[in-house]
Amino acid sequence: ATGAITIDPGYKNTGSCKSEITFLDGEEGILRYRGYAIEDLAEKADFLEVSYLLIFGELPTAAQLEKFENDIRKYTLVHEEMKNIIDGFPKTAHPMGVLSSLTSALTAFNPKSVNVKNEKELYEAVCKTMGKFLVIATWTYRKRMGFPMNYYDNTKGYVENFMRLMFELPTGPYKIDKRVIDALDKLFILHADHEQNCSTSTVRIVGSSHAGLFASISAGVSALWGPLHGGANQAVLEMLQEIHDNGGDVAKFVLKAKDKDDPFRLMGFGHRVYKNFDPRATIIKKAADDVLGALGVDDPLLDIAKQLEKVALEDEYFKARNLYPNVDFYSGIIYRAMGIPVEMFTVLFAIGRLPGWIAQWKEMRLNGEPIGRPRQVYTGYTARAFKEVNER
Ligand code: SDX
Repeated sequence: ATGAITIDPGYKNTGSCKSEITFLDGEEGILRYRGYAIEDLAEKADFLEVSYLLIFGELPTAAQLEKFENDIRKYTLVHEEMKNIIDGFPKTAHPMGVLSSLTSALTAFNPKSVNVKNEKELYEAVCKTMGKFLVIATWTYRKRMGFPMNYYDNTKGYVENFMRLMFELPTGPYKIDKRVIDALDKLFILHADHEQNCSTSTVRIVGSSHAGLFASISAGVSALWGPLHGGANQAVLEMLQEIHDNGGDVAKFVLKAKDKDDPFRLMGFGHRVYKNFDPRATIIKKAADDVLGALGVDDPLLDIAKQLEKVALEDEYFKARNLYPNVDFYSGIIYRAMGIPVEMFTVLFAIGRLPGWIAQWKEMRLNGEPIGRPRQVYTGYTARAFKEVNER
């Protein structure tokens, strides 16, 4: 028998676990990874350094970081037969759906299940996931474009590899712009973890059945795909483009977003936890100005985004509901300036969030968390007798 079950839709007031990884303060707009402020990490660390911090709990020494990077390089070759899976998809398949399938398929090519009690095996699974996920994430784009798949270049850095894997063509060398690499590195750091958000909770609950790491990450990719979550960064750009194509009348859009009958929402606005501002949005907004300025890109959608933010922040409806730009509001503007196609935006969110998912999955398993299995309040029929088909 159980005590009275209370329902908490969307788990708005339910804590699912204890965790030492990420701290959020929604009122003060504070975000810290293992106690370090996101502002410091975004400015002074690089993405693999922050990945190490999230997964292993401490900022790495130079030697530890070099070892981590080299251990990831051991596993950056993706099995050729994985191409048979990607070839099964139509060119029009959304990259997040392809990525989720390919991530789950990694289990088939790396059958050893992850025994968390064995430090060596767990470390190997972490490095394999960090190495292979980046490659298959870019394969989703190469497939859409009809380009040959690229391979990780073990002589280059992790984020530089992302740009080469995406854009290098057999017809000639790809010219790396260090400003783009630095901006992307910062964006990945800002996406790296965010306590028990929808996709991380998914990774934890799938892993709580002792499903393997790849299967759990694959589930997280699917949860992140939704437009209310990571998919918002793509939806924001589509919304800004629509406002632009309709003459740039942002006030009309803000009005639409308040219309209860209209399911349309101002994408990139609002947050379950942050009720004053999303500290990541503050950093990304500044980065957007810096990157577009540096690249000499004058994107009318950035101006529209800034107007939209201004109008919304002065609007009673939005103020009453503490609706502010979130991490997804400005990130797509930067991706666009870098030449990333809009349907790949959420894949970039997934690449950034990967170390967070891994860290949370590892903590859940090492803490011996029980299998996730909530209860319910039953509101269906009481018992009733079976009816033969000719009586129905
Ligand atoms: C991410 O959880 C995380 O940490 C997520 C994330 C991470 O790092 O993992 O931060 C990443 O997913 C950021 C959020 C990206 N999503 C979007 O930008 C989509 C638009 N935002 C909304 O769908 C919404 O704000 C959520 C999903 C972000 C939060 O939803 P909640 O907490 O369930 O809030 P709610 O839907 O109950 O809304 C509260 C009120 C409602 O009005 P009332 O019914 O009270 O009258 O605010 C309104 C909503 O209608 N509202 C909006 C709105 N967001 C909420 N109205 C217009 N536009 C919006 N964007």
